[in-house]
Amino acid sequence: MKYFLDSAKVDEIRYARDMWSIDGVTSNPRHVRNSGKPFLVVVREIAQLFEGTDKTVSVEVNPHHTTPDAMVEEGIKLAALSPNFVIKIPATEAGFKALWTLKDKGIRVNLTLVFSAAQALQAARLGATFVSPFIGWKESNGEEVSRLVAEIVQIYRNYDYKTEIIVAAVRNARQIVESAVAGAHIVTAGFDVYKDSFDHPYTAKGLKLFADNWDATPYE
Ligand code: E4P
Repeated sequence: MKYFLDSAKVDEIRYARDMWSIDGVTSNPRHVRNSGKPFLVVVREIAQLFEGTDKTVSVEVNPHHTTPDAMVEEGIKLAALSPNFVIKIPATEAGFKALWTLKDKGIRVNLTLVFSAAQALQAARLGATFVSPFIGWKESNGEEVSRLVAEIVQIYRNYDYKTEIIVAAVRNARQIVESAVAGAHIVTAGFDVYKDSFDHPYTAKGLKLFADNWDATPYE
């Protein structure tokens, strides 16, 4: 399973790249705003961190676009900035048409804001590179999420679709594990979610216990 970092903070991304061997990055307008930098400045900086690798950086088009043409035009411009960029397009009727057009031009698309298996199916039919079901948002809305991921996995297997599933808005280690068990290709989560997932209280407790015993024992 691949781990993507959901962030536009260059320091976090560099740390995740160097300490955790992160497989890619996803960003969205909220992350870009939180970076405190202008959009084009920050996405160029993130691209530089992965220059010469095949790791992807998902960059979202202006969410005000309502027509396929506007999404395609911006998608082409962004894709030209870095070979690592995958263009994030929303799962709307216009977005699906934009996906189709961009795919025909050889530009990779991450279909974002996906909340149903039907949306994920249309994304795969039209050749999306990634599809991003937002499980954290669904769960906050009181909806069941494990079935959604399982259904998308099953549909993609049934038809041998090559689209990779990024389980997005992942909030804890349990959701990472459930995504892996369901057979999702990728999870994307924030910095703290990964950091917490690498720890366990019993690991710390065990280390303390062993350290105390080590200290009480002569070495030679
Ligand atoms: C995924 O690609 C999105 O950027 C992300 O998961 C959105 O959710 P969040 O910002 O609420 O975590």
